[in-house]
Amino acid sequence: MNQNSIIRDVILSMPPEGISTFSKQIEDIPGMIKLTVGEPDFDTPEHIKTAGIEAIQNNNTHYTDPLGSLAVRQAAADFVAKKYGIHYDAKTEVVTTIGVSEAILDVFLSLLEPGDEVFLPSPVFPVYQGTIQMAGGKVDYINLANDNFKLTPERLRQEIKEHPKAKTLLLTTPSNPTGVSYDDEELKALADVAREFDLTVISDEIYGEITYDKVHSSIAKFIPERTIVFSGLSKSHAMTGWRFGVVFAPKALMDGIAKVHVFNSYDVSSFVQEAAIEAFTVGMDDVEPMKKIYRERRDLVLDALKNAGIEAVTPEGAFYIFAKIPDSYETSLEFCTDLAEQAHVGVVPGDAFGPGGEGYFRISYVTSTANLQEAMNRLTDFLAADDVALKSQGA
Ligand SMILES: Cc1ncc(COP(=O)(O)O)c(C=O)c1O
Repeated sequence: MNQNSIIRDVILSMPPEGISTFSKQIEDIPGMIKLTVGEPDFDTPEHIKTAGIEAIQNNNTHYTDPLGSLAVRQAAADFVAKKYGIHYDAKTEVVTTIGVSEAILDVFLSLLEPGDEVFLPSPVFPVYQGTIQMAGGKVDYINLANDNFKLTPERLRQEIKEHPKAKTLLLTTPSNPTGVSYDDEELKALADVAREFDLTVISDEIYGEITYDKVHSSIAKFIPERTIVFSGLSKSHAMTGWRFGVVFAPKALMDGIAKVHVFNSYDVSSFVQEAAIEAFTVGMDDVEPMKKIYRERRDLVLDALKNAGIEAVTPEGAFYIFAKIPDSYETSLEFCTDLAEQAHVGVVPGDAFGPGGEGYFRISYVTSTANLQEAMNRLTDFLAADDVALKSQGA
């Protein structure tokens, strides 16, 4: 069998992505409050919409430089330089993509040789796993369920010893689904290990603008020569439907990424690039009012879970809460299915996020406060109901 048919077989036999599959499965239940999707409920700020509309009216509707106009690449580079202290040459080290989703595929296709192994600390956003497999690579999960969902340098060293062939580490900070985020000291320690063992680090920072009580930090500050950074506007500027992402990487890595990008999508829509320039410049701090509300909702959910006796990770960023299923349930799928069917609350089973997610469920708190409050009331009542209590007693 040649390599192409092996990869085709892998693709055909891959299970579908877990978050959207479960979300679809429960969407027709009447009266459902869906806390499954990772999409801001806010609308894109007016000034950004206007920039996009004006670009269309001015006939900015043609192909651009495939990497993105130099103006949008410069605006993106200036944004991360000012916000996170990481520096890139807009001409050679920045590529704009159709959401970070495209970036993920471009990077794995350009980086991996067939059979190459990639470390995925889990629980983890499920799309990486599928794209690594599509690129012919192999996933080495690092199950962080017993490590407070945080990768430590000691654990990374141990995993490298056990998987000496893995040459790439993927880090998401802040994390989807846990909201855990890494600070300077932690990143520097991981960077030292990556340098020592010649690992390339892919750092997905799509939630970098959404951190609570701490400033976002990037591992690229410490090892820029071996880090690929993902950033985008879907979450920070409530622009999921515009499809805009950015990859920052040293030129040596960027050449391959850019090549895949050109074959894959050619360029991002020209008027979306104009809206993105507006977001990165005038809208540099657009996230702040949204973040204030996310934080209130985060606290509302954490309080409700605590009162209901459910353990949860306190998120330092993003807009998810990762919580433990009741002891009475064996699997996260079973719990989430019962919660959806009986209480009409939709949350994502933790097993969608790899082996480190089993036993947990993810709540997205990007919905109105009234909706969240009602969902938490239903969850509390569900947990107090006789059948759940009986299950707890092993009946
Ligand atoms: C960690 C992470 N990376 C990437 C993406 C994809 O984002 P985009 O809308 O830019 O394709 C998501 C979306 O949920 C995400 O959670």
